[in-house]
Amino acid sequence: MKILSIEHIGIAVEQLKNRSPFWEHVLGIKHSSTEVVEHEGVKTDIYDTGSGKVELLKSIADDSTIEKFLNKKGEGIHHVCFQVDDINSAIKELKDNNISIVSEKPLIGAEGYKIVFIHPKSTGGVLVELAEKAI
Ligand code: CO
Repeated sequence: MKILSIEHIGIAVEQLKNRSPFWEHVLGIKHSSTEVVEHEGVKTDIYDTGSGKVELLKSIADDSTIEKFLNKKGEGIHHVCFQVDDINSAIKELKDNNISIVSEKPLIGAEGYKIVFIHPKSTGGVLVELAEKAI
């Protein structure tokens, strides 16, 4: 697979409004969008440095993965996302290497990216997301 860049860092937060001022006003990173990703049960607030983004992730469903993460670990880094050129070939390569992935097929994530998550048990404890940019 070809990794193009670090696309974003996903950070779990209890409330967007309490956490966004640090990223937007103290660090001065431009806010690029706010989006609800219904099937993941999250609302995300995205800040773009121009070479990698910060995604603040707030749970909007009691059974979402972010809700579970917050209950277990509290606020903090949830995942790291790398941009790939071709998600389907990346998935095939992961399977060929017996790497544990969370879904068999790419899902549609924030900003329309095609995404897949790699299980932390295969990465040394880091939830890794791979994402192919929508055309
Ligand atoms: Co993400």
